[in-house]
Amino acid sequence: MDNTFAQDVLKGLTSNSKYLSSKYFYDDIGSRIFQEIMEMPEYYLTNAEFEILSLQSKQIVEALQFSTPFNIVELGAGDGFKTFKLLEYLVNQKIEFNYIPIDISQEAIDVLSDRLTKRLPGIVVKPKVGDYFEILKQNRQSDYPSLLLFLGGNIGNYNTEKAIELLELFHSNMKLGDKLLIGFDIKKNPVIIHNAYYDPHGITKRFNLNLLLRINRELGADFKIDDFDFYCHYNPLNGEVRSYLVSLRIQTVHIKSLDKHIHFDQNEIIWTELSKKYGLDEIVSLSKRTNFTFINHFLDCKHYFTDTLWEKSQNNK
Ligand code: AVJ
Repeated sequence: MDNTFAQDVLKGLTSNSKYLSSKYFYDDIGSRIFQEIMEMPEYYLTNAEFEILSLQSKQIVEALQFSTPFNIVELGAGDGFKTFKLLEYLVNQKIEFNYIPIDISQEAIDVLSDRLTKRLPGIVVKPKVGDYFEILKQNRQSDYPSLLLFLGGNIGNYNTEKAIELLELFHSNMKLGDKLLIGFDIKKNPVIIHNAYYDPHGITKRFNLNLLLRINRELGADFKIDDFDFYCHYNPLNGEVRSYLVSLRIQTVHIKSLDKHIHFDQNEIIWTELSKKYGLDEIVSLSKRTNFTFINHFLDCKHYFTDTLWEKSQNNK
């Protein structure tokens, strides 16, 4: 893990146009900053998805048309906050299911399972730590139908090509009749999107700068945080928010464990994140391209966000 981090940092910072992957935002400190982001009023994604699962769990569960018991497999469960309302509905209705949250962090998954069994007595939680696809492969052997959850808008971090790859991999690890519920952030008034990412509190800036601090901590680099700024930009033509760190002066950073000096020009940028926004029609065509059958969009009342339900109804690609 550490090793791939080092390799990816080396590759990104020695590239002609420098970049770092947003998947490395989430060390312990970064995960905590992301919690702060989710609590900002400007970051509408959290509330929108919470509203969907609070008000439409019944409709979502009915659309599954599953026999019981069934499995709910959540990819990247995190603290499980977003899923709580769906699980609560099922427990209250006494519908039989197994909840299988998957995360890379053992700690996050332990906290989540503990909290859920306390707050929803009777729930069956079978937490898994590790690689999504290993666990999905095992789940294919289950006699029960499965609902896969990929919530929160995480798909937005993938460009179209990578998103298709990921969805095809989901598809090949599902059984016929299994369903997939994915959260997509929807194209909307650009000002609203801009404010969610270029936030006035500077929390998203701290979130990005933490990546440089992580490189300092884990790879012995000497990034001076005050010499970098944060910039991000929403392009309503293609739905892409792109986030960057900006070098405020000419500087050279030394990364000890890579034995490497990285030169920065004044105003040189490091691209750190893509957060892609979708049109509803784009989501439907993405389901078709990846061989899924589109079932329904479940939108919040402002139409800011959708949890969209797809089915695997054929095997071949
Ligand atoms: C966790 C990927 C959904 O792109 O909106 C929040 C991460 N980045 N603010 C997103 C994030 C800046 C977030 N996702």
